[in-house]
Amino acid sequence: MSELKMAIDGQSLITPASIASQVFSSTDAIRDSELDEARAELALHLRVAEQQFLQDGAIGQIMLRLFTAMNAVRNRYSPKIWEQLIPIAQNHPVARYCHEDPFTRWSFEKPRGYSGDAGLLDFIYAHPSVQPLLDAASPLGKAVHSFVSQAPACVAVRERRDLLAQLVDDVASSRGGEAEILTIASGHLREAAMSQALKDKTVKRWVALDQDPLSVGAVASEYAGTVVEAVNGSVGTILKRSQTLGTFDFIYAAGLYDYLADEVAIKLSQRCLQMLKPHGTFLFANFADEIPDDGYMETFMNWALLLRSEEDMWRIMRATTEGLDVECSIRYGANKNIVYGIIRKLS
Ligand SMILES: C[S@@+](CC[C@H](N)C(=O)[O-])C[C@H]1O[C@@H](n2cnc3c(N)ncnc32)[C@H](O)[C@@H]1O
Repeated sequence: MSELKMAIDGQSLITPASIASQVFSSTDAIRDSELDEARAELALHLRVAEQQFLQDGAIGQIMLRLFTAMNAVRNRYSPKIWEQLIPIAQNHPVARYCHEDPFTRWSFEKPRGYSGDAGLLDFIYAHPSVQPLLDAASPLGKAVHSFVSQAPACVAVRERRDLLAQLVDDVASSRGGEAEILTIASGHLREAAMSQALKDKTVKRWVALDQDPLSVGAVASEYAGTVVEAVNGSVGTILKRSQTLGTFDFIYAAGLYDYLADEVAIKLSQRCLQMLKPHGTFLFANFADEIPDDGYMETFMNWALLLRSEEDMWRIMRATTEGLDVECSIRYGANKNIVYGIIRKLS
C-alpha cells in the first residue's frame, strides 16, 4: 500500500510517515543553499537551548524560546526543507531534555503504535491515569511538562472536550430525553464525564466508536451500566457500512480530521449526514493552520497533523453538502487553535 493510500483510506494506523506524505507533499525543488541556511538556523537555536538546559536556566523560558524558534523555522522554510530538519532536531541532545516530559516522550515513542492515541490525550486532560508517570518524572521533566501541557494546542483540546460535552447537553435538552449521539474516534470519551445530560440520564443512546480496541475496552468498562455503547470500528468500517449504527441527532468527530486527507474527510462527512436524523447536527474539529505548537509537535513529539484553515474547512463542507438542505458554519475555539465545521440539517 502506498503511503498516500495509507493516509487517506481512513483505516490504516496513523503514523508520522503516512501523515508526512500529506503534510510535507510539495513538488518544489530544494536549493542546496536554502537547505544549508535552514540547517544552520536550526542548529543555532538548538545549541542555545542545549546551553540553557546545561546551565540550569529557567525551564519555562527555555521552552518558550524553543517553541517559538521551532515554529518560526517551520514557517520560514518550505515543507520539503522542514521535513529534512525534523530528524536533525529529533537526534539533537535537546530532544533528550524534552523527552524527560512523559507526555512528549509518549508522543514520540508511540506505545500504541500510532500517533494521537487516547492515552496521550489523557496527559492533556490531566487524567488521574497518567499521574504515576508524571510523579516518576525528573524535576526537569516535570518542569518541561508544566510548560508543554499549558501550550495553546493543549489548552484548545481541553476547551474542545468541554464544548463537546456542552453540545451533547444542548442536544439532549432539545430532544426531550430522545437524543441519540454518535462520537467517531472517541478515544476515552473524556467529554462524557463532563456531560450533565449523561449524569441526569437524559440521553437515550451514545455510541462511542474508535479503531483502538484498548480505548474501546476502557470506555466499555468506565461507562458500563450507562447508555454509552463502546463500538470497535473505524472510518473505513463506517464508509463500507459494515456496521449498523442507526441514526443520530448529533454526530461529531474530534481529533480525527487532522489525520484525514480531504477525499476521506468529505466521504466521511457525507456518510455522517446520511446517518443524521432530520434537524440533526454534524460537527468536525480540526487543528487550525496557525497553531504555534506545530514545530515542537512535529519534531520532539513526532506528531504531525493536517492543519486546516477556515477555507480548508469550507472546501470540505461545500463538497460534502452540495445540493443538500443544510446550514453550514465555522467557529473557532477561544485561542483559535481549533476550528470547528458544523453542518445542520434543515429538514
Ligand atoms: C487524538 S485522539 C482523539 C480522541 C477523542 N476524540 C478526544 O478528543 O480526546 C484520536 C483518536 O482517533 C482514533 N482513530 C484514529 N484513526 C481512526 C480511524 N481511522 N477510525 C476510527 N478511529 C480512529 C484513535 O484510535 C484515537 O482514539
